[in-house]
Amino acid sequence: MINEDDIFFELKFRRPGSIYTSTRKEEDIPIILSGTFNGRTTGMPLSIIIENKDAKPIHYEEIKYKPRPGHADITYIEKYGYENWDYRGGGRSSGRETVSRVAAGAIAKKLLLLTNTMISGYIKKAGDFQIENTPEFNEVLCSRNSPVRTIRNKEEDLMKLIESLRKEGDSIGGIVEVIVKNPPKSLGEPVFDKLKADLAKSVLSIPGVVGFEYGMGFDSYKYKGSEVIDEIYYDEGFRLRKNISGGILGGISTGEDIILRVAFKPTSSIAKEQKTVDLRDLKPTTLSVIGRHDPCIAIRGVSVVESMVAITLIDHYMLSGIIPRKLSEEQSNIIEKRWLEYKQKCT
Ligand SMILES: Cc1cc2nc3c(=O)[nH]c(=O)nc-3n(C[C@H](O)[C@H](O)[C@H](O)COP(=O)(O)O)c2cc1C
Repeated sequence: MINEDDIFFELKFRRPGSIYTSTRKEEDIPIILSGTFNGRTTGMPLSIIIENKDAKPIHYEEIKYKPRPGHADITYIEKYGYENWDYRGGGRSSGRETVSRVAAGAIAKKLLLLTNTMISGYIKKAGDFQIENTPEFNEVLCSRNSPVRTIRNKEEDLMKLIESLRKEGDSIGGIVEVIVKNPPKSLGEPVFDKLKADLAKSVLSIPGVVGFEYGMGFDSYKYKGSEVIDEIYYDEGFRLRKNISGGILGGISTGEDIILRVAFKPTSSIAKEQKTVDLRDLKPTTLSVIGRHDPCIAIRGVSVVESMVAITLIDHYMLSGIIPRKLSEEQSNIIEKRWLEYKQKCT
């Protein structure tokens, strides 16, 4: 069963409109146009429309002649031609594009409950703000109610940081950590379609993402092999004592939680003055970007990363045959029950 409420439930966690994100007031109400009948998917493609109700193209008038440093303006102009370039802020290089990823992610997340697999992320680092160790999954899940999408009892420092950046007309990058709880074993193919490779590709396709790591990731250089030996033990299958490899070995899931991190760059559209080129005479000029931009893309980026991870896992479920073409009534009921419990958590 899939309905608009299921999709809306996840869209809420990406929605702008607070003082810590873009202040655009998007309702993000999804309407399913086709692909379901009597609340069930028919097997045909699902099409969903989510209207952009608070667009303000007037904010982009100056950008018509002044490409934004750090954004995709110059690469789009070079590749597609100036005459085809839509400078009004709603194109494919806009963060708005990611609303569709979260809509699809909602469906994927619901389906993953067949194996009781849940995905959640939070802001681990932004500027001087940092959460040292990986928190318990429930704490991570409840970050979905935090205005700055981090662990609830640590959120104040991040709120202060974002408030001061907004006053300065500046922005900050961030690291999002995502945990996949209870993933099945044996997802991932051995060579090109390794689970790690597919996860990397899917999260790197998110606008503003500049890095991906899992397990020890970029901290690996700090350790000797002897320091990161992960003890194998047996308990109804092979288990790992510390899960240092972040749930993936040989590109195949071990069955331990998958733990990955994604780096978002600092939002490039900032009010501070920047040097660029005037497209009318190709002479140097300056730009101060007006508009309602996210001071830290990573905050709303958390649910986008979760969604891309969920979609990637569902692809691998299908490859592995975990999800049958047609769910049985019993499987459907299990998913509905778990989805209700998942929605009620942290309330
Ligand atoms: C949820 C979300 C919101 C975003 N909001 C903004 C924004 O307000 N201003 C901005 O300059 N970039 C924003 N971005 C990032 C740009 O879309 C991105 O930097 C741009 O497409 C260039 O792509 P690249 O950074 O991957 O090279 C956002 C990205 C996401 C995922």
